[in-house]
Amino acid sequence: MLTLSGVGKRYSTGDRALTDIELILPKGQVMALIGPSGAGKSTLIRCVNRLVEPTQGSIRLEGTELTKLSGHKLRHARRSMGMIFQEYALVDRLTVMENVLSGQLGYVGFWRSFLRRYPQEAVTEAFRLLERVGLSHAIDKRADALSGGQRQRVGIARALLQSPKLLLVDEPTASLDPKTSRQIMRLIRELCAERDLAAIINIHDVALAQQFADRIVGLRAGEIVFDGQPSELTSEMLTTIYGEEDWDTTPEPIDDEAVDDGPEASSYPANMPAMAAGSAR
Ligand SMILES: Nc1ncnc2c1ncn2[C@@H]1O[C@H](COP(=O)(O)OP(=O)(O)O)[C@@H](O)[C@H]1O
Ligand SMILES: [Mg+2]
Repeated sequence: MLTLSGVGKRYSTGDRALTDIELILPKGQVMALIGPSGAGKSTLIRCVNRLVEPTQGSIRLEGTELTKLSGHKLRHARRSMGMIFQEYALVDRLTVMENVLSGQLGYVGFWRSFLRRYPQEAVTEAFRLLERVGLSHAIDKRADALSGGQRQRVGIARALLQSPKLLLVDEPTASLDPKTSRQIMRLIRELCAERDLAAIINIHDVALAQQFADRIVGLRAGEIVFDGQPSELTSEMLTTIYGEEDWDTTPEPIDDEAVDDGPEASSYPANMPAMAAGSAR
């Protein structure tokens, strides 16, 4: 459904962030994009929704060439791509519901959204999504009264409100504790399956990527150096992606089902071992 071919990006500063990226993302596939800081992960997903203009190549979403769109056609295309950021990308002084509804911006227009007048269907759908992400009890809370994991659930509901076909997710767990990180990754994964959504998830935590993605793409200095199944990601390959590191100290995959999954549960040990890529950031 999404095809990148020959995509390159050179920033005006001269930084070459991406070189000759070739990538085909099938419908419904959850892909993790891993790589050290500065590898070009954010640039890649931002080229897809055109928050960053690629300097070379073609990006097609279900046949539509995205790199040539402008004006209302670009806005229309962006609606089919839900973006999820680190969990602090909410408006603190707005309620949970208002933050979710702000995902409607592309539909209802800036002023209507600014005046907080939303169509009833959007409100109904927002309720439904908040229930799905486990926040029906917190609809009227201000965003700044929420925990990190709850904030990210709001971000997920907001991204889904516009019924996207593709999710672009940039470091969704970067500031969450390990247990909450897994809950959030699992939620994204389940929602993709329920809605037949494809996703690109930028994540530098290799263990999480391996646990929750169908496919892993490794970026190093703007180039794809690995593209395969989570199980194919060997220590040698991690060294290629991240540089020298004693990958044999990587903890065993976590037995996810054994852990209580309640959103408020705090029984998980806070001193869980650092994830695989922790020291390579
Ligand atoms: N707005 C920008 N202007 C100039 N250079 C940038 C900009 N954003 C990112 N870069 C550079 O592009 C490269 C890739 O950055 P980025 O996509 O943020 O990587 P990652 O998300 O993997 O950490 C880095 O060298 C970074 O310094
Ligand atoms: Mg980034």
